[in-house]
Amino acid sequence: MSKRTVLTGITTTGTPHLGNYVGAIKPAIEASHGDGVRSCYFLADYHALIKCREPEVVHGSTLEIAATWLALGLDTDKAIFYRQSDIPEISELTWLLTCITAKGLMNRAHAYKAAVQINVEKGEDPDFAIAMGLFSYPILMAADILMFNAHHVPVGRDQVQHIEMARDIGQRFNHHFGEHFVLPEAVVDDNVALLPGTDGRKMSKSYNNTIPLWLPEKKLRKSIMKIVTNSLEPGEPKQVEGSALFAIYSAFANAGQRQEMKQAFADGIAWGAAKQQCFELINSELSSARSAYEELISEPARIESRLLEGAERAREIAVPFIRQLRDAVGIRPLV
Ligand code: TRP
Repeated sequence: MSKRTVLTGITTTGTPHLGNYVGAIKPAIEASHGDGVRSCYFLADYHALIKCREPEVVHGSTLEIAATWLALGLDTDKAIFYRQSDIPEISELTWLLTCITAKGLMNRAHAYKAAVQINVEKGEDPDFAIAMGLFSYPILMAADILMFNAHHVPVGRDQVQHIEMARDIGQRFNHHFGEHFVLPEAVVDDNVALLPGTDGRKMSKSYNNTIPLWLPEKKLRKSIMKIVTNSLEPGEPKQVEGSALFAIYSAFANAGQRQEMKQAFADGIAWGAAKQQCFELINSELSSARSAYEELISEPARIESRLLEGAERAREIAVPFIRQLRDAVGIRPLV
């Protein structure tokens, strides 16, 4: 039986934070060590253009994110690790798919609808400042996925609709032009998906409550000291339920450590002491990868060449497949 393909993309805007690490990067890297699957992980830099018009941010973030995955031990012999823009066949496929995608399907996309909603609430024209990139973003994402015939797509909850749209689009293409695409399924891991930020809400760049992954040690400690707690004094028993600090600690702890911390809460550990333990735990998990990260970041040429190697492997799949797809729609040599 041929291997199942697991594929996911990371939009290259912003700096990776602990929520990204726990919710997406770490499980993906662990999965990449398995033999049973073919994994494709890529930097979605064309997606970055949808929300970001700052070239230096797109460029810098591509470097940071690539270095992050490599520093954390992504096995690039097994996983195919590439940059979306290095695979021009993805853009070609985007057009083939655009031509069969119902506009009504795109009208229903949450991201687009939310943007319209904001305009309507402000009394603006509904389409004010909405670019076609935002509108047709799910088609580019469908091309990312269908190009590699991915079976499973690990994503956050907010992306599930896009995977369903990719299925719809793939199915429609298959219906018109023959069975070319595997229909993908979203994989959402409810155990890890929700790391709280320093203010207790979901850790997210848009809430400004993140703890960046590669803070130097002192700053990491400072950031952890800022996690919200309540005014209970040392010696007073504390609840683990609803505690952002406990949740963040737990995401890095093994079962024994988690149990001990739970007991420490019940015994009235001081917030400062609990935070110190949290810092030590996270720091010990990240410190050797942090050195690797710093080394990689200082040598972008090494990262670039690994991405180009990944692109070469990805194109071994994409080039013949796009030829097959073009042929299927009638774009072929005349003789
Ligand atoms: N849009 C996704 C996000 O913002 C990133 C992404 C782009 C992606 N292409 C993909 C994820 C394909 C999974 C599969 O998180």
